[in-house]
Amino acid sequence: MERNSYILQMQGITKEFPGVRALDDVNLNVHTGSIHAICGENGAGKSTLMKVLSGVYPYGTYDGKIIYMGQEMKFKNIKESEHAGIAIIHQELTMIPELSITENIFMGNEITHKGLINWTEERAKTSEILKKVGLTINPDTLIKHLGVGQQQLVEIAKALSKNVKLLILDEPTSALNEADSANLLELMKGLRDKGITCIMISHKLNEIAEVSDAVTVIRDGHTVESYDVEAGKVDEDQIIKSMVGRSIENRYPEHEPKIGDVIFEVRNWCIEDPEVAGRMVCKNSSFNVRAGEIVGFAGLMGAGRTELMRSIFGKNYGIYRSGTIKIKGREVRLNSVEQAIKNGIAYVPEDRKT
Ligand SMILES: Nc1ncnc2c1ncn2[C@@H]1O[C@H](COP(=O)(O)OP(=O)(O)OP(=O)(O)O)[C@@H](O)[C@H]1O
Ligand SMILES: [Mg+2]
Repeated sequence: MERNSYILQMQGITKEFPGVRALDDVNLNVHTGSIHAICGENGAGKSTLMKVLSGVYPYGTYDGKIIYMGQEMKFKNIKESEHAGIAIIHQELTMIPELSITENIFMGNEITHKGLINWTEERAKTSEILKKVGLTINPDTLIKHLGVGQQQLVEIAKALSKNVKLLILDEPTSALNEADSANLLELMKGLRDKGITCIMISHKLNEIAEVSDAVTVIRDGHTVESYDVEAGKVDEDQIIKSMVGRSIENRYPEHEPKIGDVIFEVRNWCIEDPEVAGRMVCKNSSFNVRAGEIVGFAGLMGAGRTELMRSIFGKNYGIYRSGTIKIKGREVRLNSVEQAIKNGIAYVPEDRKT
């Protein structure tokens, strides 16, 4: 490796917002070609640190130094950090759902010939880039028709198309299912093998343990700890201890659940597919929920779990055919999301952003 084996050193970074010191003298040293995990509780300052790095917060709005590939960087905006080979995949996906994969990948960097977009070339390049992240889908597919996992891969593909050297992933797997998460972690390992450095922010300690070469823990805007780890030897309890600032006797303390009466009942719920007439997505689904209970719904992909819940949540999905809902024994009609909310129901969708 070259003289400086660090691709990145952030030194004494301090960033204030009105009334909040989000970062206070934070240091981060990242080895070239490593996967470096950043951990910390909600609000610790992780995203802010990455926004300082990528020029979202420009030079002059923070104190401290960024040394990248041996040089001090003073990014004025994201374009400049991108140009230097730094790409950030934000906590929330940023692509435009109504546009195709190709359009999203080349947005702002269109390949043009005599003032016209060269679609043939853009499409061909897109297919090539998609292959790098293991996607074999038509580049004309609209983003809205992709699952969250695929959308994330497209975002990464877009970053790779810009010749990225340092890829920052802010909670990349928080909205992904298990299979998509596993796929993404494999992809990260593959990128590392190609010499691309990754910084990963994650709350999922098992994933950190699986892929990380180094861990930095941030608490209340301070760097608490930073160390290299041996693959498979991450001490999760140690990370938690640094994150919260005290030792944890029992990660999963025993709870005595207080289960009460049935407060929510669904009977013979029948919902028709809005796109395929006559196809029933839910056929006479019935279940009860008691106060204080956590009820799990298991099933394969496409079994209709999301559709069932969305149809209950104010008929947010599908065509209602029959069935009843009772809340605390009283039958209710939830014809809109607003009515569902008024009746005390909340729905957290698969895709956090929506
Ligand atoms: N634009 C902003 N204006 C004011 N305060 C902000 C802003 N962005 C972040 N903060 C504050 O700075 C602190 C750090 O926030 P940050 O988003 O960096 O945390 P985080 O570690 O990424 O948390 P999470 O795990 O929830 O994503 C928090 O107290 C937050 O409220
Ligand atoms: Mg964050």
